[in-house]
Amino acid sequence: MSSKLLALFFMFVTLVVASEDNNISFTYNGFKSSHLYLDGVAELTSNGLLRLTNDSRQQKGHAFYPNPIVFNNGSSSNVSSFSTTFVFAIKSEFPNLSGHGIVFVLSPTKGLPNSLPSQYLGLFNESNNGNNNNHVFGLELDTIMNTEFDDINDNHVGIDINGLKSEKSASAGYYDIDGNEFKNLSLFSGLPMQIWLEYDGVKKKIDVTLAPINVVKPKQPLLSLNKDLSSILNTSMYVGFSSSTGSILTSHYILGWSFKVNGQAQNLVISELPKLPTLDEKHDSKAIMIIGLPLISLCLILMVAIAIFHFIKRKKMFSELHEDWEKDYGTQRFKYKDLYFATKGFKEKELLGTGGFGRVYKGVMPISKLEVAVKRVSHESRQGMKEFVAEIVSIGRLRHRNLVPLLGYCRRKGELLLVYDYMQNGSLDKYLHTKQQRFTLNWSQRFRIIKGVASGLFYLHEEWEQVVIHRDIKASNVLLDGEMNGRLGDFGLSRLYDHGTDPQTTHVVGTLGYLAPEHTRTGKATTSSDVYSFGAFLLEVVCGKRPIEQVRECESESIILVDYVYDCWKRGEIIEAKDVNLGVDYVVEEVELVLKLGLLCSHCEALARPSMRQVLRYLERDLQLPDLSFLSLSSMGLSYGQCENFQDFGMSYPSSSMDRPFSHTSSIAESLLSGGR
Ligand SMILES: *[C@@H]1O[C@H](CO)[C@@H](O)[C@H](O)[C@H]1NC(C)=O
Ligand SMILES: *[C@@H]1O[C@H](CO)[C@@H](O)[C@H](O)[C@H]1NC(C)=O
Ligand SMILES: *[C@@H]1O[C@H](CO)[C@@H](O)[C@H](O)[C@H]1NC(C)=O
Ligand SMILES: *[C@@H]1O[C@H](CO)[C@@H](O)[C@H](O)[C@H]1NC(C)=O
Ligand SMILES: *[C@@H]1O[C@H](CO)[C@@H](O)[C@H](O)[C@H]1NC(C)=O
Ligand SMILES: *[C@@H]1O[C@H](CO)[C@@H](O)[C@H](O)[C@H]1NC(C)=O
Ligand SMILES: *[C@@H]1O[C@H](CO)[C@@H](O)[C@H](O)[C@H]1NC(C)=O
Ligand SMILES: *[C@@H]1O[C@H](CO)[C@@H](O)[C@H](O)[C@H]1NC(C)=O
Repeated sequence: MSSKLLALFFMFVTLVVASEDNNISFTYNGFKSSHLYLDGVAELTSNGLLRLTNDSRQQKGHAFYPNPIVFNNGSSSNVSSFSTTFVFAIKSEFPNLSGHGIVFVLSPTKGLPNSLPSQYLGLFNESNNGNNNNHVFGLELDTIMNTEFDDINDNHVGIDINGLKSEKSASAGYYDIDGNEFKNLSLFSGLPMQIWLEYDGVKKKIDVTLAPINVVKPKQPLLSLNKDLSSILNTSMYVGFSSSTGSILTSHYILGWSFKVNGQAQNLVISELPKLPTLDEKHDSKAIMIIGLPLISLCLILMVAIAIFHFIKRKKMFSELHEDWEKDYGTQRFKYKDLYFATKGFKEKELLGTGGFGRVYKGVMPISKLEVAVKRVSHESRQGMKEFVAEIVSIGRLRHRNLVPLLGYCRRKGELLLVYDYMQNGSLDKYLHTKQQRFTLNWSQRFRIIKGVASGLFYLHEEWEQVVIHRDIKASNVLLDGEMNGRLGDFGLSRLYDHGTDPQTTHVVGTLGYLAPEHTRTGKATTSSDVYSFGAFLLEVVCGKRPIEQVRECESESIILVDYVYDCWKRGEIIEAKDVNLGVDYVVEEVELVLKLGLLCSHCEALARPSMRQVLRYLERDLQLPDLSFLSLSSMGLSYGQCENFQDFGMSYPSSSMDRPFSHTSSIAESLLSGGR
């Protein structure tokens, strides 16, 4: 037989012998579903902590392994070796003071009846303290200095045999890994600490080692005592813990416990131990007061601030101007927010055109799905705004099939938004002045548009409850609806720029070529000045030319449409003035009528012009056009020279005769037509 086999054989024998020994061991990494014997105030918490005392005064608590453990070695009376380790924590209401401590105890009885709390640690009473018949072994973790028991300080570890006067004790702490430096520990710091107790039954020696939970077991024990426990321990003993409180509220916790007879107690798995309550309830509420509340309020303030910021941003983005006098215009007032969304945020893609007063966007109202055109007019001054809005609102009530319905308005800082019905076919301008074939209008279409616009303007001047002066009649302000009906748009807008301005410095709003001479001079718009513009419009529609058309190459030279038509008329060939795009499909009499009417309306003197009522009748041929030959009475040619009546004319408007912004145009018109007075 080899020596190896022999060794194996002996190993087998020792194993058998060992197994015959009482080698009871148990390990609790937390006490969930353990069956410990508890008395006093001891309890298991829901997360598996063993709490020996709760927050109450003058209480004791015991926890014992439920079965007795045999401590003698086989048949001999010698006490078996044993080893235990446990993790504990002591939390006190004060940082520098604690209720009493914890004792690891070997007792002949389960529980310690008649023992006292407080300094007796739940182990003894006055009469049996120190009595050798107790057969009690204890390892105390004492946090109060009791001079009657000769305690060394208020933070010590001691070995107690049958009484509270320790056989040996040491101030709490541990030797670091090199064994050189001793580090103090506070037992009631509330931090978990691990302690090891080992009894060597052969050497009769007790070793006690303490360390913080995150430190491996130091090599050098805190406390060693040579003591034969054979006379002290009974054959069968109970192992467990005792703890007590005095006048200071203290909680004593055991987080994990391992025990073994005849061998090394199994290591605890620190990561599996239950968590201590982070702060006791009092501290919890205090912490909430100190840390939580400010934090929560800060968060709340932040959230409110963010909400307010967004609210203000949104509010600012969609802010409008409201004034008391607008209260009655509720139904005609649009929300900026709605217009914003209708036009997709005034996207370039939705832009219909850019007019003299602002940009026009197409939009679809969010709820009604109504197609609208939104005109943004920038307007800084609030002067005259009240009157203007009043006019807008009353204009909004105008209903005529040849007017573009004004649905309402919206007012913001520096901006006015006007909401119109959307006209499918856009402005007449496009049809007259583009070379594209698909946009060309035939004569009957043009004539219908002319009559429509005339009827719309007549409605504004005479048929409605108050006189409305359009002020800016021109092809680009005539819009075509789905049935190619001409509809006047943009009425009254120029008024916005008239209000409150000094007549001396009036800047006339309107469009060059459509402005009546007296309008240019005085800045005053009248129904007659509208008729003058309408005349220019008539010529524009028939001739397909703008009232003043720049000749491309030399910019100083421009064709004045009125001059041109007059010229043709004088030659007896007025029909020649018509748009070449008209082709041959036209009614000569109608074309002639409109051209002549255009000349008549272009008379430089307001009184010589027909009213819209008359214009309508001429167009309907209810009334014969007057003889235009008087126009030719003028001795003036079509030159740029001065009209002989010009001085007289100018004298009647002395204040402004010298600052005519469009003197060039108006003098042409004057020179052409003023002779007929
Ligand atoms: C303890 O005893 C049991 C059975 O009595 C045995 O299976 C086990 O191996 C023993 N353990 C030690 C460490 O001796
Ligand atoms: C402590 O435990 C005792 C007994 O279980 C109980 O009566 C008492 O209310 C507890 N005190 C606190 C503060 O939990
Ligand atoms: C008890 O231990 C002592 C040594 O400490 C030894 O001499 C003695 O024989 C032991 N007794 C028994 C019964 O094993
Ligand atoms: C404990 O600390 C408090 C202040 O935190 C102090 O008032 C008190 O005197 C201290 N007690 C002891 C025994 O040091
Ligand atoms: C412990 O042992 C002693 C003497 O050996 C005996 O008097 C006492 O009754 C025992 N205690 C218990 C609780 O068995
Ligand atoms: C002290 O405890 C012992 C053992 O339990 C008991 O016999 C005795 O009566 C107790 N004495 C007092 C004063 O409570
Ligand atoms: C450690 O504790 C002892 C006993 O209380 C004290 O004398 C010593 O100064 C302490 N050492 C340190 C470093 O705090
Ligand atoms: C117990 O008995 C075993 C085997 O007999 C021996 O190895 C061990 O040292 C004994 N322990 C004590 C404390 O006497």
